[in-house]
Amino acid sequence: MRSRRSNSDVRPTFDHPGIGFGCDYNPEQWSPEVWTEDVQLMREAGVDLVAINIFGWSHIEPRRGEFDFANLDTIITMLHNNGIRVNLGTGTASAPAWLTTEHPEILPMVEDGTTRYHGGRQAWCPSSPVFREHARALVEQVAKRYGQHPAVALWHVSNELGCHNALCYDETSAAAFRTWLQQRYGTLDALNAAWGTSFWSQRYSAWDEISTPKLTLSTPNPSQVIDFHRFSSDEILDYYRLETSIIRQHSSVPVTTNFMVTAHIKNQDYWSWVDDMDVIANDHYLDHRLDNPRLELSFAADVTRGLAQNNPWLLMESATSAVNWQPHNIAKTPGEMMRNSIAHVARGADAVCFFQWRASVQGSEKYHSALLPHAGSDSDLWREVLELSHTLDSLDEVAGTTVISEVAFIFSWESWWAADGKNRPSTSVRYLEQVHAAYWAAQSLGLTVTMVPPGSDLSGFRLVIVPTLYMVTDAEAAAINDFVHNGGHALITFYSGIVDQDDRVRTGGYPGAFRNLLGIRSEEFAPLLPEHVVTLSNGWRGSLWTEHLRVTTATAVETYVDGPVAGAPAVTRNSFGAGEAWYLSTALNEQSYDQLLGTIVQRANVRPSHPAADGMLEIVRRADASRSFLFVINHNTHQTQVSASGFELTTGNRVDGTLTVPAGAVRVVREDSTHE
Ligand code: GLA
Repeated sequence: MRSRRSNSDVRPTFDHPGIGFGCDYNPEQWSPEVWTEDVQLMREAGVDLVAINIFGWSHIEPRRGEFDFANLDTIITMLHNNGIRVNLGTGTASAPAWLTTEHPEILPMVEDGTTRYHGGRQAWCPSSPVFREHARALVEQVAKRYGQHPAVALWHVSNELGCHNALCYDETSAAAFRTWLQQRYGTLDALNAAWGTSFWSQRYSAWDEISTPKLTLSTPNPSQVIDFHRFSSDEILDYYRLETSIIRQHSSVPVTTNFMVTAHIKNQDYWSWVDDMDVIANDHYLDHRLDNPRLELSFAADVTRGLAQNNPWLLMESATSAVNWQPHNIAKTPGEMMRNSIAHVARGADAVCFFQWRASVQGSEKYHSALLPHAGSDSDLWREVLELSHTLDSLDEVAGTTVISEVAFIFSWESWWAADGKNRPSTSVRYLEQVHAAYWAAQSLGLTVTMVPPGSDLSGFRLVIVPTLYMVTDAEAAAINDFVHNGGHALITFYSGIVDQDDRVRTGGYPGAFRNLLGIRSEEFAPLLPEHVVTLSNGWRGSLWTEHLRVTTATAVETYVDGPVAGAPAVTRNSFGAGEAWYLSTALNEQSYDQLLGTIVQRANVRPSHPAADGMLEIVRRADASRSFLFVINHNTHQTQVSASGFELTTGNRVDGTLTVPAGAVRVVREDSTHE
């Protein structure tokens, strides 16, 4: 597998032969006899990358300063002797009871000022110097002991950093927040201006008056909240850097940690992490609370690929079947684990790993699926695991290739935090839902998109999709302007370009940052009640949002025929330099959205990844300079055919012109000629 870094970069690269297949392994929960069986079954299943010591702290340091590595030594040796590479956890994810008993001040505080205690996990304040000191001592021991061990292929810092404890409101965090603010603003005057503290008598006259945004009687200061998100994300990243710097003193093996993009960790701006990661790794679980869990999987995989800057990445955790933490934990249907896994590989994953190896029988995750279920190896699930392993083996030659796309898609954690803040025009307009809606439309049209952060250089793409980019800096807006001016096409959707980096409204008419680019001016928002549906001049249906919009230089492509702004433009198109910028001022239903994007795509001359692709037939191409692989994932309950020629890797059959994909199956064709 190729590193995501350039040749000039000296960071270690994660080299893994082919597509990896692995899992988290928690041998602390089992006796040594079980370990022997585990390793034997891992071999049978072709598992080649195993994450251990993720929650190992209380085992390897049972009392302060007393280290016991006997069991970990044994496990690492067993794995190594069986040709299984180790993804070694630093063990710091969950502080042991002796530490929180001795130092209760490291426990995290939530928004209402109450403390959270030992007994769950991640019960530590990210800013706590005491926690950091103890974690540092542990990492030092682990890195020193195993830094040169031939089994160790990858370092796994902590676990899902910030999953539970990202926002800590205690006095230690408040002090660190103040330091962060001093660095950002320099003076109190600058902070007061950025936060708009003249409002509601919130003005600060000394740094010590500033705290974390704990629960207030009315709504808190929104700019303070955004800065607290930024600070908290930076603080966790800083912690990651601390562990990494210790590992680097003892090991040249690449270092990573598992992200959780995007449904479950909202509090990390992962764009800011990219330069610190040797290889990007993500955990993904289907979330059945969402409208379309499967499409969210593809979305998350594409965001992860974006973070990897279109280089291969690792799926560090996923579930073979049900999880245990949703209200209704839906088991996967036959073939679903295969489709889910291959969807990640199609979008750039060079390893598919699972939480966890053997299903726990105790603890709060005992009803979470695993590679080896409670039923044991005489089970359909185990047989599916073997089949998946076999399929991944057949795809080994795909490793290292990347995904081709002509469409950029801007995703922003800052806009997510800000757009979903309190006291907004409509609580029914939620950032991620609007982003998903735009993504679904792209999927339905068979478009593969590349996720980029705001401010990216977009040259090289034909089209950029900009959903609800609520918070945008001047420079970020300029990057989109430049792209269109130079001949690119853009679709910008409502509630974009409204505020600057301080959450300060851009005046003179909405959408302030994009008014000129779009050739429109909106005087007032006119959001809709959730059940209200409006009709557009061509029959399309919209909901949630309308606005008092008029065109300045744009063309009104569609207008509203009813609703609060009947007669006003609903969809506009503006020629800007050599390109075109479209504005969508309402939440279109799926069918209408598909049609709108279809029109834009045609005008932008964007080609779908494959003519047959749609929401139910996922077709993605991975390629490098000399080879291309067509991934086809058939989510339909019927067989389907797509045009392709080459060698089909999962069955070993030649394909001449027509590829038949059975219902629910996956196929990957090494194409005869390189895709242009
Ligand atoms: C996360 C964690 C794992 C486990 C799984 C369960 O991904 O990293 O330790 O708790 O969730 O889905």
